[in-house]
Amino acid sequence: MELSIRAATVSDAEAMGRVFVDSFYAGHRGQLPDWLLDTRTYEVSRNGWARTLASPSPGEYVYVAVLDGAIAGVGMVGPAVPWPPDDVARSASLTGECYALYVAPSLQGKGVGGALLRGLAARLAADGVARLVLGVLSVNAPARGFYAAMGGRLLGERDTFDEGVRLDESVYAWDDIRTLLSSAADGSR
Ligand SMILES: CC(C)(COP(=O)(O)OP(=O)(O)OC[C@H]1O[C@@H](n2cnc3c(N)ncnc32)[C@H](O)[C@@H]1OP(=O)(O)O)[C@@H](O)C(=O)NCCC(=O)NCCS
Repeated sequence: MELSIRAATVSDAEAMGRVFVDSFYAGHRGQLPDWLLDTRTYEVSRNGWARTLASPSPGEYVYVAVLDGAIAGVGMVGPAVPWPPDDVARSASLTGECYALYVAPSLQGKGVGGALLRGLAARLAADGVARLVLGVLSVNAPARGFYAAMGGRLLGERDTFDEGVRLDESVYAWDDIRTLLSSAADGSR
């Protein structure tokens, strides 16, 4: 198995849309209302990635994991959402946030997600980001297990809104992003 992690380009958008939607459906079925799942179509997702990649925002990065020549995972990071407002660690350390991490359903559990998260974290660290946070649906037990296995510490819970639906998110933090970079899960299996 040959795995590489690289910055996404606009020409990846089609494949990224397929991977994202397949993973979103498989991962969130039963966690989100079906109508909300159905708002993520291949076309909507492809167009969204293409737009994001065509006009990147400062400090935001979209990466793909490529396994044996095909896109197997997509992820995005950028500046942290200001939560909680009194987060002392955030004001003390430049903090980034992982906005999305999705691996194709048939390729999960092979080290792809871990390698992708580390690649994104390394890109942020190169910009001087010292700390990483991310929000995951509180009902998403498998992903929470993954983030805990990657060394994330549960920081707290917050509300998030998707198409007007209120959702509970658990927020995980790596107070020193370097611990994530050197974690055991590196996709080299
Ligand atoms: C969550 C997700 C990104 C993880 O990617 P993955 O490729 O399946 O994970 P990896 O194979 O890289 O696992 C990395 C490490 O986490 C561990 N891990 C993975 N899932 C786990 C779980 N449910 N419980 C405990 N540990 C877990 C692995 O054992 C591995 O540790 P190791 O290297 O020490 O053995 C992927 O499963 C996915 O796309 N899920 C559906 C979409 C989703 O929920 N995304 C997150 C939205 S916030």
